[in-house]
Amino acid sequence: MRFLSLLSAVWTVGFAFAQSNADAFIAKEGPIAKAGLLANIGPSGAKSQGAQAGVVIASPSATDPPYLFTWTRDSALVFQAIIEQVISGTDASLRPHIDNYVRSQTILQQVSNPSGTVSSGGLGEPKFNIDLTAFTGAWGRPQRDGPALRSIALINWANHLLATNNASYVTNSLWPIIKLDLDYVANSWNLTGFDLWEEVNSASFFTTAVQHRSLRQGAALAKAIGQTGVVAGYTTQADNSLCFLQSYWNPSGNFATANTGGGRSGKDSNTVLTSIHTFDAEAGCDAATFQPCSDKALANLFVYVNAFRSIYTVNSGIPANQAVATGRYPEDVYFGGNPWYLSTLAVAEQLYDALIVWNKQGSLTVTAVSQPFFASLSPGVAVGTYAASTSTFTTLTAAVKTFADGFVAKVAQFTPSSGALAEQYDRNDGHPLSAVDLTWSYASALTAFAAREGKTPVSWGASGLTVPTTCERNTSPGGGGGPSVSVTFNVQATTVFGENIFLTGSVEALQNWSPDNAIALNSDNYPIWSVTVSVPANTRIEYKFIRKFNGAVTWESDPNRVINTPAPGSFIENDTWR
Ligand code: NOJ
Ligand code: NOJ
Repeated sequence: MRFLSLLSAVWTVGFAFAQSNADAFIAKEGPIAKAGLLANIGPSGAKSQGAQAGVVIASPSATDPPYLFTWTRDSALVFQAIIEQVISGTDASLRPHIDNYVRSQTILQQVSNPSGTVSSGGLGEPKFNIDLTAFTGAWGRPQRDGPALRSIALINWANHLLATNNASYVTNSLWPIIKLDLDYVANSWNLTGFDLWEEVNSASFFTTAVQHRSLRQGAALAKAIGQTGVVAGYTTQADNSLCFLQSYWNPSGNFATANTGGGRSGKDSNTVLTSIHTFDAEAGCDAATFQPCSDKALANLFVYVNAFRSIYTVNSGIPANQAVATGRYPEDVYFGGNPWYLSTLAVAEQLYDALIVWNKQGSLTVTAVSQPFFASLSPGVAVGTYAASTSTFTTLTAAVKTFADGFVAKVAQFTPSSGALAEQYDRNDGHPLSAVDLTWSYASALTAFAAREGKTPVSWGASGLTVPTTCERNTSPGGGGGPSVSVTFNVQATTVFGENIFLTGSVEALQNWSPDNAIALNSDNYPIWSVTVSVPANTRIEYKFIRKFNGAVTWESDPNRVINTPAPGSFIENDTWR
């Protein structure tokens, strides 16, 4: 008994500590985060000299790591936060930045780059130079979350302008760029690409989820402004992608696997970011869209957080029911593999979002799926629905709030007194690491703090969705059922009698680099060898021709050939053997 009351006294102190720590930190850090974010936006941001108007630099760090570029993903997430501030009336003075962003993205979409042109996959290019020219170095490309995130930000803005009588600007200036992104998403959501961490080339939970959201919102906007021709197509692909989204769930592990490839545990901040960036308070605790308070998203958060308890020295000795420093994914080795500010803050934000909905609906449900999460905070809690009037509701929501504040307190503990937020903090001693003043870190602080205050982002139509009972056949990424384009490969090659030319490359339709199964070309127009193949549209495909003679295979010289396939249709590729 004595021991128990001592324990609860310790608890209470711990609780008060996390809470006051969070309050004091937020009061100080909020304005710093906002200033830090604005300093990184051109043309007049204090730390973004050289950036065009409306261009968000990822970080002022020019070298080690080189982050003085503009990423479509980071920029869209940053502007999503800015747009929320304007829409909610928190800070209407930010509006000129949004107008600049719109203009910058109108230009950027048209910049031909290593992923292609605007109509042949170029929208999947992850990053550009800050003067809005193409970045041509090697990179993990394409990254298909970018166009989805950008269109989400701009659709939210468009909806706000429609509600405030600005329909002609929406139709004439916003819709054309939104439509380019949505067409890209509709045509390519089921193809593989690099994940948000730019490392794994596969399908990715975050990417699929934001693609779904963009198509869903896009269909509604199109309908609202009379662009009816695209509504059915976007809606069909929204349904298909929502269906596919369900397949990431790992029922035995009780978490959402981040990527379909990559050979990792699959426990990844990707999934927590999904939950906060597709939050819709009107959708309740819907698990199909992975709402923050859904049983699946909470179970997932629990598994994700626990994956970092034993790997970072900064987490040693922290009891299993308290907040810890978390990073991108446990296997991360980038800069030594460390906790990230934006990942730790995302955990807090998801829990604040969940609290908003439980309080709003006046109840909280513990299911078999979420029970391990809740039991870690309130041992022995049973499966059931608890009304706001019950002590269990009070206990659980207080415990969740404390837990959430603990993640903010972790960030507070490892933020230098200047309030500057880098990308990472050291796994051993917590000192800031990697890119300084990461714009995305600042945005993540602003959105987490807003959620703690009970602010909800605009609704996007997640409520009342039905997951198709069977997913459309062949809609899995890379599965070949997506939009395709018919490509005629012609190669000029002189051969000796009995020697033949074949083709293989990086996609299923080109036999995945298999010389044995390579596709035979015909020599009807010798010395032009030719074959027409149906391959995925809007895709970067690598390939080579090979010769086979008496069973011996000869490959063309390096590097691999590359085509960025256009939107559905047909296309002729003329090459000469090398
Ligand atoms: C830079 C990328 O931005 C980062 O996400 C990645 O971890 C490293 N390259 C290593 O691939
Ligand atoms: C590396 C991160 O992995 C990626 O998500 C981000 O877009 C870039 N850094 C730029 O901040």
